[in-house]
Amino acid sequence: FQFAAPQNEPVYSYAPGSPERVALKKQLAAFKAAPVDLPMYINGQEVRTGKTVEIHPPHEIKHKLGQFHMGDASHVKTAVDAALAARAQWAATPWEQRAAIFLRAAELIATKYRYHMNAATMLGQSKNAYQAEIDSACELIDFLRFNVHYLTEIYKQQPASPQGIHNRTEYRPLEGFLLAVTPFNFTAIGGNLPTAPAMCGNVVVWKPAETAVFAAAMFMQILIEAGLPAGVINLVYADGPTLGDICFNHRDFAGLHFTGSTGVFQQMWKIIGGNINKYRAYPRIVGETGGKDFVMVHASAQVDVVATALARGAFEYQGQKCSAASRAYLPSNIADAVLNKLKEMLGTMKMGTVEDFGNFINAVISERSFDKIAAYIDNAKKDPKAKIFAGGGYSKTDGYFVEPTVIVTTDPLYTTMCEEIFGPVLTIYVYEADQFEATLDIVDKTSDYALTGSIISQDRYAIDLATKKLENSAGNFYINDKPTGAVVGQQPFGGARASGTNDKAGSALNMYRWLSARTVKETM
Ligand code: SER
Repeated sequence: FQFAAPQNEPVYSYAPGSPERVALKKQLAAFKAAPVDLPMYINGQEVRTGKTVEIHPPHEIKHKLGQFHMGDASHVKTAVDAALAARAQWAATPWEQRAAIFLRAAELIATKYRYHMNAATMLGQSKNAYQAEIDSACELIDFLRFNVHYLTEIYKQQPASPQGIHNRTEYRPLEGFLLAVTPFNFTAIGGNLPTAPAMCGNVVVWKPAETAVFAAAMFMQILIEAGLPAGVINLVYADGPTLGDICFNHRDFAGLHFTGSTGVFQQMWKIIGGNINKYRAYPRIVGETGGKDFVMVHASAQVDVVATALARGAFEYQGQKCSAASRAYLPSNIADAVLNKLKEMLGTMKMGTVEDFGNFINAVISERSFDKIAAYIDNAKKDPKAKIFAGGGYSKTDGYFVEPTVIVTTDPLYTTMCEEIFGPVLTIYVYEADQFEATLDIVDKTSDYALTGSIISQDRYAIDLATKKLENSAGNFYINDKPTGAVVGQQPFGGARASGTNDKAGSALNMYRWLSARTVKETM
């Protein structure tokens, strides 16, 4: 059977006075008025342990949004057992039935729970309405619909059968259970990491970031309403070592689908490697990790195009996209004009809560994150090699607010040009306009990461040279645009080097990783 090729979910603008804005505001108010009590979901059951963790909006830390119930080793064990018990029946469920569940979930978000998903993401993760809409509504819906489409296409691929022989490929799920570990910064990634393997007939234990439990639990409820059978995806809240201890020592551990920090991913990989003899099969390890994403500007670039790419690329969602521009290289001929234009744009970006839709900047995710970002800013204030060109202020009195900050440095290897900060801090190095090619080498060698990057230029030769010389510097490379905002079905997303295994989220490449094909040859 065949599904129509999906279209990307249209993005609501939430324009002032629009019915969408009214509805979203109503949902925000409802969530603020009634604190939530979020269980784990194990074997289709809501599990409340009584060991609760409070949830506060990062932009309004004195308000209690609700709480979630923390699990321990026994809950992780139960989740693994439930997943394994559900496996045989789920793997044997016909594809059109499995697919229908995820398509229904997409439809439920699009038509019934869009404002719930967006409001949970706005309040829980401090995203403004537009950033929530492109994430917890559109990108999540797209992941579900497009992955169904990719898998349908994969299942059709069959080998040749010469006369007298029949060959076939069976695209089976992996033997065992998968672990999905998901980040705070995209609700859509939180949804994609467990569902992509589950679609393929796999069973999953899903641990979301503690700072994104609200939206994760909401999505889990939607999957259940859409008909996901008990045990196929189990949502648990547990600390990393407890989770790892149980999952990575289990004979049936079949793989890891991860988005988060490079350090945590490498640690997990080492543990899995150390346990390699324990497993029934080699686990599939798929991870998207850190980045130090760049914008490289050529002397021919238009000032407004560069300033817009930097303002949006570096500061949307407070610079907490893994794809966010965090280092830029400006040619000396237009550097002052770009910097002035950027400062002017930053002057118009209001900062505050998500409920005021006029705010472009909201809070960073946590106190830990705030302290880390503030320390980088403080160091830059003291270092003679750096100058705070814009912003530089921060306060955690009401919420974790950090001003959009631009550092200009005279050293292309200055700390904030090299290290991932994961906050609203952009560092700029101005190079001599005739040193374009030499600067491309610096861009490539500055960072161990290779997630996203941009070249901005009106000169075709410069574009081609940058595209060639930076071919290993970014898994997603943008010409004349910001390095953020990959759209499912349009720009498959992922990085190489220390940024991940580059198994492109939102593409067939990712789906193949969750299948274990059997080749069957029958001689007639
Ligand atoms: N997909 C996001 C972006 O491109 C990052 O995860 O911005």
